[in-house]
Amino acid sequence: MDFALENQIISGDCVEVLHQLPARTARLVIADPPYFNVLVNESWDTAWHNESEYLDWTARWIEAAMQVLVPGGLLYCFGQVGKREHAMLHLMSQAAQRWAFHDLLIWDRAVGYKDRSDSWTPAYEMALVLRKEGAPPLFNKDVVREPYDKKTIAQYARDKRYKDAEARRRHLSKGKYATNLWRIPSLKGSSKEKVGHPSQKPLALIERIVRACSAPGDLIVDPFLGSGTTAVVAQKLGRRWIGIEKDERFVAMARARLEPEPRREPAAASTSSTCSLSRREHE
Ligand SMILES: C[S@@+](CC[C@H](N)C(=O)[O-])C[C@H]1O[C@@H](n2cnc3c(N)ncnc32)[C@H](O)[C@@H]1O
Repeated sequence: MDFALENQIISGDCVEVLHQLPARTARLVIADPPYFNVLVNESWDTAWHNESEYLDWTARWIEAAMQVLVPGGLLYCFGQVGKREHAMLHLMSQAAQRWAFHDLLIWDRAVGYKDRSDSWTPAYEMALVLRKEGAPPLFNKDVVREPYDKKTIAQYARDKRYKDAEARRRHLSKGKYATNLWRIPSLKGSSKEKVGHPSQKPLALIERIVRACSAPGDLIVDPFLGSGTTAVVAQKLGRRWIGIEKDERFVAMARARLEPEPRREPAAASTSSTCSLSRREHE
């Protein structure tokens, strides 16, 4: 792995950049790609003439992302369904036929993101999880346990079937295994976390994925870095990261969110500065 590429935002098109990254180096790819004609005022979401073009492009970036994963590495791909936005259904079907399906998360955003007069208010997004075959995936269930509520703890405490009350109490205090249904509030306009990206993900959402599916020191790649959420989480949790973003406005936004890293030896230690990768430089 080229040391200079770690902990960097690479400004450019993710398909091109991913093909230039060393193969089999990343434990995790976290991707929040354009949705296809949902944010109609954002040029990055309206760049395709039709859905079939969008799906062809999707297959290209997933192919490119898969090559940077280590065997057993996981690729998380966010998406949503709503009134216009159902390309995710076709994306999931296409991707799950071509690569190994691993899981499907439902992210309950706690509040609906748009009113619909003719149907239910859309309130969730999804993350399709694909697996690179060749080794078992890393998954640490214990680090993302959820606390039992007081009522459940009290019920178990009264249950006479459990003879060893102390062992039961210890078990309950660890919390329960997290399910693949997550309720994490989306970011309100007034949220301190908000930095101005139109589809910024909450840190708590990405943090869960990073904690459960990678170890300290692992490399995480985000091909659609946006405001830098994945990089902020990876930096906080001691993971190495590479973020790719093609819009210079968002590159600047992400850079502003990242704190300077402590200096590392050798002296060319990385900072969160932008690194433009040209094919010539890295051939
Ligand atoms: C849905 S947003 C990601 C938001 C991000 N998860 C966050 O928390 O801020 C998608 C991002 O992908 C970027 N993008 C779109 N096409 C791209 C491409 N081909 N290569 C790199 N970045 C791209 C857009 O500029 C946009 O910032």
